[in-house]
Amino acid sequence: MIAAGRYGARVVLWLTVAFGRVAITAFGADEAVLKPRVPIEKIDEARTWTNPLAATEENIEKGKSLFHGKAFCVTCHGRDGKGLGDIPGLVGKLPRNFTDKAWQAARTDGELLWILKNGSPGTDMASFVPLVLTEEEAWQVLLYVRSFGQP
Ligand code: HEC
Repeated sequence: MIAAGRYGARVVLWLTVAFGRVAITAFGADEAVLKPRVPIEKIDEARTWTNPLAATEENIEKGKSLFHGKAFCVTCHGRDGKGLGDIPGLVGKLPRNFTDKAWQAARTDGELLWILKNGSPGTDMASFVPLVLTEEEAWQVLLYVRSFGQP
């Protein structure tokens, strides 16, 4: 009985470790998410760009209406910013979870603006400036993206 109990505990432990590994591979992908998206040769310059707009309620509201409106960010990034989108069956690389504080901290505003100007190479994230958004509007929408990281 005791031996069986020990054996059982080992099986449970093994299953926990095995499942944990699978779960990390499938959902964790933290490092992949945090890895910079701006190409290495451009990143130093991108990091020098800072948002000229203050995070006032008015500017965040403007960003919010662009996110949900003409810039249609919401279709892929979702109403809650978690990146599951509103399109059923969205395939390919999924957008980030904007509520993830580790992701928020890993990015400078300049890197995010670079992505809005150039897209994220090799993914569905296209370039929005200047075709869809002016640079000023892009900074507004980024204030809204940042607001997902607030408590
Ligand atoms: C067609 C779907 C789609 C639309 C529309 C879209 N995105 Fe994305 N976005 C993505 C995907 C996919 C990624 C992840 C790319 C990657 O893994 O590098 C992404 C990544 C990002 C990133 C972060 C990249 C990083 O550094 O981790 C930001 C910021 C972003 N999008 C903002 C926006 C904003 C703002 C809009 C609207 C102006 C928008 N996106 C519209 C699909 C979309």
